[in-house]
Amino acid sequence: MDLWEMAIRSLLFILPSYFANATPVLLGGGQPLDAKRKFADGERVFGDGKTVRGFFAGICAAVLVGSIEGLALLGSWLDLYGSAQKYTIAGFLLGSGTMAGDLLGSFIKRRQKIPRGKPSWVMDQLMFLFFAIAFAYPVASHLVSLESVLFLAVLTYFVHIGANVLANRLGLKKVPW
Ligand code: CTP
Ligand code: MG
Repeated sequence: MDLWEMAIRSLLFILPSYFANATPVLLGGGQPLDAKRKFADGERVFGDGKTVRGFFAGICAAVLVGSIEGLALLGSWLDLYGSAQKYTIAGFLLGSGTMAGDLLGSFIKRRQKIPRGKPSWVMDQLMFLFFAIAFAYPVASHLVSLESVLFLAVLTYFVHIGANVLANRLGLKKVPW
């Protein structure tokens, strides 16, 4: 497999995770997942940025995007999984992993006394990515390699910056990160 094909397959593989990560910005809000509870250190467990609605909206978005990819790619030269169900399952696993990694990232940020909404490069960008890949690994091991993970880490860095600047310009986020 050449480098271009690896890059395109990696992007298609991770796409449900990107959608899971972005959807809560649009559809999140309401009851925070930690119900405003504080951890032993006196800080919030996750903070107001992690809501029940955002969590489930993220997973649903990933299932939807995964399933649509199945319709689009099944049987093509870029087919990732070879069966429609596997695309949906991969979407669910990527979405669950993304939201779990996002939560853990916020949990660690609060333990480090980083306020809700303040950036932390590793927690904001790498945590969700590695959790998404790890959760999806049981159905996607053939798509995961050192090269693909490194490529996705670099890609995520730039997509994250671009998406946040865009969300800020569109008035969806107060800060451009
Ligand atoms: N969001 C949500 N529910 C989630 C994740 C995100 O409602 N489970 C929404 C929130 O409105 C949040 C926005 O998406 O403010 C952006 O998400 P993120 O950058 O992950 O949260 P932050 O507000 O930056 O909080 P943190 O510092 O905990 O990362
Ligand atoms: Mg943030």
